[in-house]
Amino acid sequence: MADSSPVTSPFVEAAPSARHAAFAELAAAGPVRRVTLFTGVPVWLITGYAEAREALAHPDVIKGKGGDGPHRDAVPADLAAAMDQHLLGADPPDHTRLRRLVSSAFTRRRIDGLEPGIRRVVDRLLDDVAAAGEHGAPVDLLAAFGLPLPLTVISELLGVPEERRRDFQEWTTVAINGSVHPAETFVAAATSLIEYIRELVGHKRADPADDLISGLVAARADGDRLSEDELTSMVFLLLVAGYETTAHLICGGLQALLTHPDQLDLLRGDPERWPAAIEELLRFNGPAQVSIPYRTAAPVRIGDVTIPAGEVVLPALLAADRDPRRFPDPERLDITRPSPSHLAFGHGIHHCLGAPLARLEARIALGALVDRFPELRLAVPPEELTVQASMLINGLTTLPVTVA
Ligand code: HEM
Repeated sequence: MADSSPVTSPFVEAAPSARHAAFAELAAAGPVRRVTLFTGVPVWLITGYAEAREALAHPDVIKGKGGDGPHRDAVPADLAAAMDQHLLGADPPDHTRLRRLVSSAFTRRRIDGLEPGIRRVVDRLLDDVAAAGEHGAPVDLLAAFGLPLPLTVISELLGVPEERRRDFQEWTTVAINGSVHPAETFVAAATSLIEYIRELVGHKRADPADDLISGLVAARADGDRLSEDELTSMVFLLLVAGYETTAHLICGGLQALLTHPDQLDLLRGDPERWPAAIEELLRFNGPAQVSIPYRTAAPVRIGDVTIPAGEVVLPALLAADRDPRRFPDPERLDITRPSPSHLAFGHGIHHCLGAPLARLEARIALGALVDRFPELRLAVPPEELTVQASMLINGLTTLPVTVA
């Protein structure tokens, strides 16, 4: 039986600590539990670490169908086809095939090759932050740095030319936050974005370059290749999956460090600690509070609960990463914690494809912020910060700081 009172508290605008407390309260009631969400949908919420890993790796815990984005009644079929045929909504064998093709273009070499470009973008954005923050004026680091950085990086990765970036970024922002816009606004932006992605694919087909879209166009495995809709959907997914998540890793990570100055001092004294620190920041305050929902294809035993077939399963990554059975003293930020192996990037076949890129961006961005602004401080008391209302994203509404 689902609990009678719907679960709302982790998904509303609140103080960051209130969101974690809401998940801790749910976790205390049991690691696998059927609840009703505030949307009226009953789900099996998984708040335990071992149980979430088990569910995410279980062959009968599947995506089911995908394609449940915002305003679906208003989205024409051809637009839906160009947005929905991607990895995150697919199950094996389709997922296996798509992931193999996409991975052959989304390579470690291509990601590592972005490092000089990312440093350039970071330096340029921080010049603007320094100018805006002269004489102690507060700057919203989310708007001035956190959000523009990943969008510029993904534009470079995809090969969007400079003169088209403003349009591209405007459509992307509306398409990603579709549910907060009226249906017509969302459909118009998504249509422009998909048309533009198609145009970009056409150019890269005719005149390949050393960028990700050219790589995806050329991707081949066992005589197989991506269809036109699969290509468009994949580019669309890369935008949706990598933009706000990375912004909130940077800003949520910085917030955690600024409110734990002892940990920040450890980093200032020893920059080699950054990679381990990023992992602990992902565990402590990851940007994805839950996975995209899964479904059971058959009765599935998780921990000591059997979930019947046909039910929605929702791993609560933020709760699992603070499970005291897995992480001693989980509420403590400790960048010296031995290999946290968190679930912030998910687990199993849908484990985040962009994790190496997100880690690289966060390391460069946070390292540069801390190096460049020794006087970096929160511009408001920490208890005045709020996380935005969201089903998926654990992200601040703003991050006001002073840099001088
Ligand atoms: C999948 C988190 C950045 C591309 C996922 C999943 C999570 C996640 C939790 C699995 C969702 C599920 O199981 O339903 C994050 C976080 C990020 C981040 C916390 C930043 C800190 C990125 C970036 C990209 C990206 C930068 C690419 C540019 C993807 C893709 C998938 C995915 C393509 C689907 C993989 C599949 O289904 O096989 N991400 N992500 N992500 N992510 Fe990320």
